[in-house]
Amino acid sequence: MSVSIPMPSLGFGCYGRLGAEGVSAIRYALEVGYRNLDTGQDYQTEVDVGEAVRASVIPRDQVYVTTKVATGNLAANRLIASLEESRKKLKLDRIDFALIHWPAPNGAIAPEVYLIELRKAEESGICREIGVSNFTIALISRAEEILGKGGAFVCNQIELNPLFKNPKIARHCQSLSMRVTCYLPLARGRLSANLPLAAISKAHGMTGEQIGLAWEWSRGYAAIPTSSRRERIAAGFAAQQVRLSKEEIATTDALPDGPRVIAPAWGPKWD
Ligand SMILES: NC(=O)c1ccc[n+]([C@@H]2O[C@H](COP(=O)([O-])OP(=O)(O)OC[C@H]3O[C@@H](n4cnc5c(N)ncnc54)[C@H](OP(=O)(O)O)[C@@H]3O)[C@@H](O)[C@H]2O)c1
Repeated sequence: MSVSIPMPSLGFGCYGRLGAEGVSAIRYALEVGYRNLDTGQDYQTEVDVGEAVRASVIPRDQVYVTTKVATGNLAANRLIASLEESRKKLKLDRIDFALIHWPAPNGAIAPEVYLIELRKAEESGICREIGVSNFTIALISRAEEILGKGGAFVCNQIELNPLFKNPKIARHCQSLSMRVTCYLPLARGRLSANLPLAAISKAHGMTGEQIGLAWEWSRGYAAIPTSSRRERIAAGFAAQQVRLSKEEIATTDALPDGPRVIAPAWGPKWD
């Protein structure tokens, strides 16, 4: 029996990668070496992700496919059915990683309702691993009470980049041996304009976005950048060659944090 790969530290974000252009970008990401694809029920890109995986020559067990349960599917009678629908859209044997995209808006559904269903989905084999996104320290603690300590989740996917380091929740997850996956890892293209990062970029012959990714990996995080442009997709993969010095990591650590970008009014009370 073949063994599926664990979650790679570099993933390709599939938000916005829609239709023929989206499939072409995802196929190109696989071609240059990405082995982790991040989609979600809300993104409308599950069909495109599945098509790109099936069209590639890469064995299925060498690609790690993530989807996220939309907030509208958190009810007990919806969650498992929604993941079955995701699997049908992906047209894949299984989902490698299913995560809760957001805690229920305004806390309207208790976490035990959807976390127990998510665990059932894992046990039934619809998905291989489970996790969460946009969870706070309080919600992670609640999840541990519900599902038990230690290894309940593969990771917490959160907004994190050199201009928004989100340290409290990141440290908390790592203290529990839970992976942290950075979304908005490129700060949506704002890193090259940052002067201290520009100096580091110059020294490595890389862009600020590549330095951002290298810093995220230096901290032990995973990152899921995206782009519609081939040269930028390839640049994300090439960033894995960068090794930052202790001083460069410290300079990046010391950059002032800007505001959170993704902050819906119905979201959780952030740490
Ligand atoms: N869990 C969650 O709640 C959540 C929330 C948001 C996102 N995500 C996931 O995270 C992935 C990435 O997030 P994101 O797309 O918001 O942020 P991102 O990866 O930080 O930024 C992507 C954007 O930056 C631009 N870009 C890429 N490289 C660039 C460069 N070198 N210079 C200038 N601009 C550049 C891209 O535009 P071009 O196409 O023009 O290159 C694209 O619009 C998403 O695809 C999704 O899978 C998850």
